[in-house]
Amino acid sequence: METMPDFTPSLIVHGGAWDIPDADVAADLEGCRRAAEIGWAILQKGGSALDAVEAAIRYLEDDPIFDAGVGAWLNAAGEVELDAIIMDGETLDNGAVAAIQHIRNPISVARRVMEHTPHSLIAGHGAEQFAAAQGFSLCDESELLTGHELERWKIIKGKTNYKVEESFGGTPHGTVGAVARDKDGHIAAGTSTGGTPNKLPGRVGDSPLIGCGCYADDMSAGASATGWGESIMKVVLSKTACDLAANGSDAQSAAEKSIGVLADRVQGLGGIILIDQHGRIGQAFNTPRMARAWIEDGQVIAKVDK
Ligand code: GLY
Repeated sequence: METMPDFTPSLIVHGGAWDIPDADVAADLEGCRRAAEIGWAILQKGGSALDAVEAAIRYLEDDPIFDAGVGAWLNAAGEVELDAIIMDGETLDNGAVAAIQHIRNPISVARRVMEHTPHSLIAGHGAEQFAAAQGFSLCDESELLTGHELERWKIIKGKTNYKVEESFGGTPHGTVGAVARDKDGHIAAGTSTGGTPNKLPGRVGDSPLIGCGCYADDMSAGASATGWGESIMKVVLSKTACDLAANGSDAQSAAEKSIGVLADRVQGLGGIILIDQHGRIGQAFNTPRMARAWIEDGQVIAKVDK
């Protein structure tokens, strides 16, 4: 019997696009590098793109240097509310949670939404109840609040004229994401975040919204976005990038053109990672830096600068 040849796996992760200070660069690089290694090990063993994306993002959520899971930004009430999405490029199935509390790894809850409910997105208290019913242990708020973020939140909270743009040009940010293609040619993508600093309670950004913070389709590409959510939503950034890939742009051109749309059309700030249907990797950002790591010739490459 004739068997289909395996595809060459691909993987890229990001730890957020913003003005990463020099003092955080080593930790950002190490976090992205480790997450890429974890996802890559799964793909190398023949595992699925979905498993690689989920495992890589779980690692990034657990690393307090990033704005996701432990170490997430606090909302205006001083609470952690998390958003996450995962998408399967083979079926276009997707699952997401928004403004969920007391959960360390929202990406895994998002995957349960995709695989165990007829829904795409569950928010707030309902998401927390769903997670508990699925066997996730609920954590105390204090487990997600790192001292670092609490101190930074107090500084921002004290500013009467604070603008969210500032969070991408000097104060910490770091939505995380991953995109992978497995040996069967299936693409998956995921994104997880604590959102923007001092956001109104209940505010939901681009990250858990299909097409905005994430998209995946084996016929075009998979993408994960990072940056100022309200702008990313306006241009449906991840779907825009995947459509560009479907219409003849290679992954790098699609990434660059989509960030061009974000900048030119809505003066947005952010970044995107992409893997196209041929397994090519793209990455682009218009913030000073974006933490990311990817696999090239079997080696992990991690960068924050262009
Ligand atoms: N991109 C993350 C957010 O705006 O929530």
